[in-house]
Amino acid sequence: MPVRNSLEIVTFPNAEKSAGAAAYVADKETEKQLKDLLPKWGYSNSQIRRGSLPEAIRDYTDKAMPTVLIVDISKVALPLSDLQALADICPPQVNVVVLGTRDNVGLYRDLMEIGVTDYLVKPVPSDLLYRAVARASGQIAARNAEPRVGKSVAVYGVRGGVGATTTALNTGWLLANHHNRQVMLADLNLTCGTLALELGLEPTSGLAELLTDPDRIDNVFVDRATLEAEEKLKLLASETEIDAAHTYDGAAVARLMQHLRSRYHFIIHDIDRSAPATAMTVLKNADVRLLVMDTSLAAVRDAARILKFLKSEAEEKKTLLVLNRSRARSGVELPIEKITQFVDHQIDITIPFDKKKLAVASMNAEPVARAKVPITDAYLKLASELIGQREKPARSNWLSGLRGG
Ligand SMILES: Nc1ncnc2c1ncn2[C@@H]1O[C@H](COP(=O)(O)OP(=O)(O)O)[C@@H](O)[C@H]1O
Ligand SMILES: [Mg+2]
Repeated sequence: MPVRNSLEIVTFPNAEKSAGAAAYVADKETEKQLKDLLPKWGYSNSQIRRGSLPEAIRDYTDKAMPTVLIVDISKVALPLSDLQALADICPPQVNVVVLGTRDNVGLYRDLMEIGVTDYLVKPVPSDLLYRAVARASGQIAARNAEPRVGKSVAVYGVRGGVGATTTALNTGWLLANHHNRQVMLADLNLTCGTLALELGLEPTSGLAELLTDPDRIDNVFVDRATLEAEEKLKLLASETEIDAAHTYDGAAVARLMQHLRSRYHFIIHDIDRSAPATAMTVLKNADVRLLVMDTSLAAVRDAARILKFLKSEAEEKKTLLVLNRSRARSGVELPIEKITQFVDHQIDITIPFDKKKLAVASMNAEPVARAKVPITDAYLKLASELIGQREKPARSNWLSGLRGG
């Protein structure tokens, strides 16, 4: 199996009660029961309302979800497909408890397979309800002990200037805005990275400190270092002194990654090429590697070398080769067949040349992917590839919906 198949979103052992709960229930009795009990159990900021799954999907498409979401499916015609829709907008740290009226083993099994924390048949005895809510908020161990975590994507330009940062930025933006995923962009070039510049944000010393002293990595420290580009698109970026030495190794990135995995669907690393040993470790460790190249001879040579290097490892992971037409065509260039033959890998995505749109986007500090242009279509294809939509079976489940998104 070439692609890592483990589940990729977290079950939140550390979720806090204060993170809150929301419930959409179809009947008055259960509504009253939850209104009485949730505050007693410490969920003082819970929101309980009459409604069901479609209302939950509607309400949370653009809004942050509480950690525990209780949804009633008793009046929903196609609960499994609606739950899939909910999965598509569900951030990693949310656990879902489903209420219904059908006491049916097949349905129960389907729901568990989809990844909901519990299915409870109404009227629900209070002790069962308590256990389900406690499990969903991480107070007691989840049934499904297998951790679900976000996907790490490492973007590496095989040469400087081939468009790696442009690829990281636009793919990340589309995953957040088109696919509603929680995305973290991490600019690993601490001295001269350009992601903050491209997003119009001011870098802080936070990421440099985290990577230099990984023992300090914790929620508070990471949150302080995190810059918000948009609600679902965050950035870690620093701008150390121009003559600063390279201060971190691949292990530090792995630790930070481990931490971010529980909170983001995708963590996209823009790799610093100036420290090859660290760069190669980060690339090796990532779930998906995006190698960006252009059609120059040097890029083709280096793409081949890196692909060979990545192939030598025991566990084969997903590697996507992106051909970015970052330079105007000169009329003298290697034909694609020759390139794929030489690098011994297919070109997975080709990004068309568009200097002007990219320059304007850069000047405005807005990703080009905001505009409907051919370059955006190419990045959309890449984002879908990362979500796994291309290979998705007709009836996919919650976890594959959440898997890496
Ligand atoms: N498809 C493209 N068409 C035209 N120009 C591009 C394209 N992709 C990237 N560029 C431009 O090339 C330059 C280098 O891109 P960048 O993403 O910073 O490369 P890298 O991170 O690999 O060094 C930038 O000015 C960028 O706007
Ligand atoms: Mg770059």
